[in-house]
Amino acid sequence: MSNGKLAVLTSGGDAPGMNMAVWTLTQAASAEGWQVLGVQDGFVGLLEDKLEPLTPIQTLSWARYGGTKLGTSRLADLPSYANRLLEVLEHHSITALTVLGGNGSAAAASYLHSQNPNLTCVLLPATIDNDVADSDASIGFDTALNTGVRLLDGIRDSAEAMPRLFALETLGGDTGFLAQAVARAGAADALLVPEQVLSDDAIIARLQTALDAKRYAIIVASEGYPGTEGVLESVSDKLGVRYRFSKTGHAQRGGQPSGRDRLLASELALTAWQNIKLAKSGCTVWQAGQATHLPFADDAVTTDKPFVWTFV
Ligand code: F6P
Repeated sequence: MSNGKLAVLTSGGDAPGMNMAVWTLTQAASAEGWQVLGVQDGFVGLLEDKLEPLTPIQTLSWARYGGTKLGTSRLADLPSYANRLLEVLEHHSITALTVLGGNGSAAAASYLHSQNPNLTCVLLPATIDNDVADSDASIGFDTALNTGVRLLDGIRDSAEAMPRLFALETLGGDTGFLAQAVARAGAADALLVPEQVLSDDAIIARLQTALDAKRYAIIVASEGYPGTEGVLESVSDKLGVRYRFSKTGHAQRGGQPSGRDRLLASELALTAWQNIKLAKSGCTVWQAGQATHLPFADDAVTTDKPFVWTFV
């Protein structure tokens, strides 16, 4: 196929490793004579025609940083802006668009491709929430997991020194993938995720066992769990133990990407690039230890990723 022009865009919540993927794509495409343009500020920036050429040297200097140097945004109701978005891409003679983001971004890429099948659109899962349908891992998840575990370790230092009840709320949107991973890797005593709301009695039973054994207990809660503070007040009252509550906040979303996230970004981007050259649109996901390219299908981009409870 003749050389084309690739636009790269980051969308939704930023995720550590996005910059690494942008560099990998820029490097691979430029090496084969393609022009690469970076869209600033996600789909909102694309609407405003904010595109600039990217070079391998420039993007290499971004690769080690968290966040996204391209900037990002959330654009609600993308289909109503699709004509304008496609016009901008056409104006720049873009032949392929790579989107880094979560499920909403996958739906956006799929929709744009459906409106202009000549535009190759590829999605790479990049979100700390790890909730992209059909992908075992998403870029940024490992770094956010490590940040969460570090915070939990810090809480445990204090819990061992001054025993009581502690809770740490993680990001994760309306899913519990990130909270569950932090809870397991950090050896928490109880986990609160929106996919499985527990009764106070069930939570108390777990905490009582932990308190009896070591005089403190640690809960990890996803931010999507309903009424966490109320639950904490109620169970600490019933247990007769004081509680302290911390939130990771957006600090969990940033920071230098882990080695694993950089490798994932690199593998996904290289596989995406092979498919872009073949004009194959779809999602390049991570399945069973390797990058796999799936064509867009309604159920591939709209079905929620099933939550599997592995916390014990
Ligand atoms: O989807 C990624 C994420 O970081 C979620 O974990 C979090 O709920 C959300 O984005 C926060 O979004 P915003 O930065 O727009 O408030």
